[in-house]
Amino acid sequence: MDAFQIHGPAVISGETHAAGSKNSALPILAGSLLTEEEVLLENVPDLRDIRTMLKLLGILGRRSERQGPDVILKAGKISWTDAPYELVSTMRASISVLGPLVAREHGAKVSLPGGCAIGPRPIDLHLKGLEALGVNIETHHGDVSATTEGLKGARINLGGPFGSSVLATDNVMMAATLAEGVTTIECAAREPEVVDACNFLLAMGAKIEGVGSGVLKITGVPNLHGCRYRIIPDRIETGTLLAAAACTGGSIFVKGARADHLERVLELYRQAGCELTINEDGIGLSVKGRLKNVETETLPYPGFPTDMQPQLMAMMALAEGISVITEKIYPDRFIHVQEFARMGADIHMEGASAVVCGVQKLEGAPVMASDLRAGAALVIAALAAEGESLVRRIYHVDRGYEKLEDKLEALGASIKRVKE
Ligand code: EPZ
Repeated sequence: MDAFQIHGPAVISGETHAAGSKNSALPILAGSLLTEEEVLLENVPDLRDIRTMLKLLGILGRRSERQGPDVILKAGKISWTDAPYELVSTMRASISVLGPLVAREHGAKVSLPGGCAIGPRPIDLHLKGLEALGVNIETHHGDVSATTEGLKGARINLGGPFGSSVLATDNVMMAATLAEGVTTIECAAREPEVVDACNFLLAMGAKIEGVGSGVLKITGVPNLHGCRYRIIPDRIETGTLLAAAACTGGSIFVKGARADHLERVLELYRQAGCELTINEDGIGLSVKGRLKNVETETLPYPGFPTDMQPQLMAMMALAEGISVITEKIYPDRFIHVQEFARMGADIHMEGASAVVCGVQKLEGAPVMASDLRAGAALVIAALAAEGESLVRRIYHVDRGYEKLEDKLEALGASIKRVKE
């Protein structure tokens, strides 16, 4: 297994660029199943989850070719409708082939994705939405079997106990693009990645109103066509790189980053004492002196994203004062707290809130990534810590960050990939 060997403290400074968004690209790649024609996607990050999705599409009959940052999905028919456990179990976003497959083929079998290190992750909202469109769902032996005699538009509320759902909105919306009649999705997710999926579907000829709002109105069309589409920059990668500079007292510029997708994150960074430069080329951040404490809770967009919670915690571990970070999306997404403690952080849990008492310094230590964002946060803490750290199980980090170690090394980090 690979690990990152990191020597700190480093000062993360210089210019870098934002990669394409993983969480946009994954459902959009699945959405390419909605047409037989060629689809060209620009700015698709080259990382493990994307390779897993391309493999899954290949099994379903959609061949692809990577050309630098672009991916071409070749014209062709769907030849298989089963998404196997081996792939779905490694990547939950595989569930987003379900909507496109039932829309095109009127049937599909997808393994139940199960839980993961960030807590239980049910798919009831995906299934409820598809059932409302006329899909018959059965679950047997860990598989979801979906069949329909034809999709019909419906009014569906996708609100769940933790608010809206990103991939359920994508799944149901994708199915509805080819349904007969009008579908209204209430409590639709408003994340920039969902807006990106809407824009991609519009480029394929779908009819969608209310893009970016909590109510989407989709008028079904008989067919969608091929298109060329550019994926938005990855706001979570940008937030992570900015956090690395903030935590190490550096000064960074992320070219191509979009501040309008990161408003709540940037507001908190400002409160923490970071100076921000925002222009049409990207986002700059610099820090002088020690960071200040903040208080926030994770919420669906435009709230503070759960996918930035561990990275903010790394920043606050070294900030002045006591910070409180509350998880409202995945109340169990706190495995990293124990790992931060190994580096000398002073954090304790009160229910779903982490109370972070900032310390003067962190010490390098062997630590373990439990999920993608926890891994990134441990890398950030290791950059700021004194001495050597070994961040283990970085296959999690590889799932969602394109060339993270190369980017950080170019910004002044001493980081090496080692085999254990
Ligand atoms: C997306 O997952 C992201 N993944 C996640 O990114 C992200 O953490 C999450 O949205 C929340 O922002 C991709 O886009 C590929 P949800 P998704 O359905 O869509 C509950 C990362 O690190 N829920 O919006 O699967 C759920 O348990 C990751 O890149 C139900 O109750 O998340 C959670 O509490 C990991 N029933 C809340 O809704 C359902 O059927 C929001 O989850 C579905 C979800």
